Amino acid sequence: MIDLPCNARMKFVLLSFLVLINFQICFSVLPIVIWHGLGDVCCNPLSIGGLQKFIQQEIPDVYVISLKIGKTTKEDFENAYIKNANDQVKFACDLIRNDSKLALGYHGLGISQGGQFLRAVAQRCPDPPMANLITLGSQHQGVYGLPRCLGDDVKFCNYIRTLLNHGAYKKWIQNFVAPAEYWHDPLDEETYKKASVFLADINNERATNETYKRNLQQLKNFVMVKFTKDTVVQPIETEWFGFYRENNLNSTYTLQESPLYIEDRLGLRTMDDQGKLHFLKVEGDHVQFSQIWFKQTIIEKFLR
Ligand SMILES: *[C@@H]1O[C@H](CO)[C@@H](O)[C@H](O)[C@H]1NC(C)=O
Ligand SMILES: *[C@@H]1O[C@H](CO)[C@@H](O)[C@H](O)[C@H]1NC(C)=O
Ligand SMILES: *[C@@H]1O[C@H](CO)[C@@H](O)[C@H](O)[C@H]1NC(C)=O
Repeated sequence: MIDLPCNARMKFVLLSFLVLINFQICFSVLPIVIWHGLGDVCCNPLSIGGLQKFIQQEIPDVYVISLKIGKTTKEDFENAYIKNANDQVKFACDLIRNDSKLALGYHGLGISQGGQFLRAVAQRCPDPPMANLITLGSQHQGVYGLPRCLGDDVKFCNYIRTLLNHGAYKKWIQNFVAPAEYWHDPLDEETYKKASVFLADINNERATNETYKRNLQQLKNFVMVKFTKDTVVQPIETEWFGFYRENNLNSTYTLQESPLYIEDRLGLRTMDDQGKLHFLKVEGDHVQFSQIWFKQTIIEKFLR
């Protein structure tokens, strides 16, 4: 019975005296898919593994999976830097589609770059459906500035920074360095729009992909959390889908002020009108939040 789709089970409910049990199965909490950030791995007990465990304590019986992009933890760590973002998204879509426990839908929880990657999953892989998308310190309009090197392997990270400095829009770097694929140069918007193989595509900068727009609007809630003292992400406004104004590093615009929103190229204005967009902030550095905040704000309102 557990394998039946929800509406089939609903019909069965009418014939069954197990009404309560059926009802509970049908409306039980959705599973959660987490995508980690740069310099992290899927299952480190000190970071995502700990978060996963906390969610499982707070929501008994919930199924939580933290995506591992690759076969091993080492691959997972490296792939966050050097696997083409489009290929990472494709890999994640396969993992999600292959997991029968996610067949009826799930909530997405993206940490840092994992947030814009999960948004791409929602836009490109609508089946199974994502219900709520929560992004923590993610770069929806990209970054302009070298990310501070985090994690254990600083040497590797420094090598990546050197490449970004060398030329984020050079074709070989675009196809090889994941952060280059959401590198957004406000002093050269034209090149960004032409050369960005990932971000400019999912943000409908080159053309309006109606499929992306339709799929994104299937979300019930799109929650963007900004960290007001973030020292990693530049500019911080990207965490709420804003960015630097063209040719002006002194000034930023909000999502609501952007042509993307005004022309509703991605359906975000429609979603805002429907009350689906949530702009939350935490006073803290990059993805630094307390368990109490996470429980009260994210778990209670969007994951339960
Ligand atoms: C998903 O399943 C297909 C078919 O069983 C398999 O070939 C593929 O490797 C799986 N992909 C992932 C990412 O697990
Ligand atoms: C829109 O995106 C979908 C999913 O990635 C893709 O298959 C399709 O070719 C895109 N359409 C256009 C017009 O680019
Ligand atoms: C930005 O601010 C700096 C320092 O305050 C100033 O020198 C520069 O002219 C400003 N640039 C623009 C484009 O406003």
